[in-house]
Amino acid sequence: TRTQVGIIGAGPAGLLLQHLLAQQGVESVLVENRSREYCEKRQRAGVLEHGSVELLKEIGLGDRMVREGLTHSGIYLQFAGERHHVDFPSLTGGRTLTVYAQTEVVKDLIAAGLEAGHQLHFEVTETAVRDVDTERPVLSFVDADGVTHEIECDAIAGCDGFHGVSRPAIPSLRVSERTYPFAWLGILATVPPSTDELIYAHSPQGFAMHSMRSTEVSRLYIQVDPDEKIEDWSDERIWEQLQLRLGHPGWTLSEGPITEKSITPMRSFVAEPMRHGRLFLAGDAAHIVPPTGAKGLNLAVADVKVLADALVRLLVEGKADLADAYSDTCLTRVWRSTWFSWFMTSMLHKFPTESFASPQEAEFQERLQIAQLRQIVSSTAAATNLAENYAGWPLP
Ligand code: FAD
Ligand code: DHB
Repeated sequence: TRTQVGIIGAGPAGLLLQHLLAQQGVESVLVENRSREYCEKRQRAGVLEHGSVELLKEIGLGDRMVREGLTHSGIYLQFAGERHHVDFPSLTGGRTLTVYAQTEVVKDLIAAGLEAGHQLHFEVTETAVRDVDTERPVLSFVDADGVTHEIECDAIAGCDGFHGVSRPAIPSLRVSERTYPFAWLGILATVPPSTDELIYAHSPQGFAMHSMRSTEVSRLYIQVDPDEKIEDWSDERIWEQLQLRLGHPGWTLSEGPITEKSITPMRSFVAEPMRHGRLFLAGDAAHIVPPTGAKGLNLAVADVKVLADALVRLLVEGKADLADAYSDTCLTRVWRSTWFSWFMTSMLHKFPTESFASPQEAEFQERLQIAQLRQIVSSTAAATNLAENYAGWPLP
């Protein structure tokens, strides 16, 4: 069989790409190795940039997000016993954030895709790509009923995340990476958020963050060692650390039943180029950022916007210019997000003493972090830099 674009992965990148292509009359087949339910339940990001929100609205997929998403005008930074608000609209010409979970974005995209009759195959196995150097690359897989498919495509989009099969299909990649000496333990708790906007806290016990999923459900994170086991973290121990790290005079952190907990390692990773022949990588398949800047999901959205435009140009108008420029166009934003995520991560976490040659060097790092935070909350120029990056740049 044939299709125009073979898409691997039903994460935000693959699903959104299928919608963007369909709206321009380009046909695609999407394959995913997990079940629909698994994709819809996987707990991940929660913050959408202004540009991501606008794009979802523009293509008619933003109704529930507009109804149920929470609009935020900034974040709180907490350190050295102080809590400060950074106001994004006044620093960025009116940009805001929307708190709407990745699980909900994925549910909306899958429901609308099935309704529109998109070809979506869940629970496939043996996904493989070949002949990506030719104009007829092949996407092969075995469907949930055990039937083998070989699909001849005009192009293949590798939206299969960090552990997918697409990136390894590109020869001679240039990889830049950094593994951080800490991880995030994240929980969902059935308790109304104790804050109106997200709190990012730098504390002597390590980083902590208070986010939310709705007016009834809180999402909270604490920094832990990368080799920590989730079994060693009782609910009581987690709340104790959250209280210590987020505690602030005159403010109370409400506790509630924990319904989900997991540990995520933290790394920065960029693979270049993001395209080889007729195979294009997008989202986590090409790059990973640590979660501190809330960029991962938004970067995936930006990649597929560029990719959809490039593929429509290639397959409908027969012009290769945007496809040829795809990798370079994306990588400018990728590196800007990589910088910002590294900056937020380095400023807010407590680095383990083993990272330093002496206690004085550890002290030096700590004092620099406080100096950086103080600069942001006292200089409009420094605050603007954070706000512009966090709220995100206009989509291409
Ligand atoms: P993914 O969402 O990873 O989607 C890739 C899809 O491809 C998956 O559904 C996968 O099952 C599928 N797939 C993989 N291999 C194959 C194959 N061989 N065949 C078929 N399908 C395949 N970002 C934040 O901003 N804040 C956060 O708090 C945050 N937390 C995160 C926690 C975790 C555990 C992870 C992994 C990421 C987190 N991120 C977070 C990052 C953000 O969620 C990602 O950047 C975002 O999911 C990227 O979307 P994507 O579509 O590129 O990749
Ligand atoms: C959330 C995750 C993040 O990485 C972040 O920086 C802010 C919020 C969240 O899951 O809500």
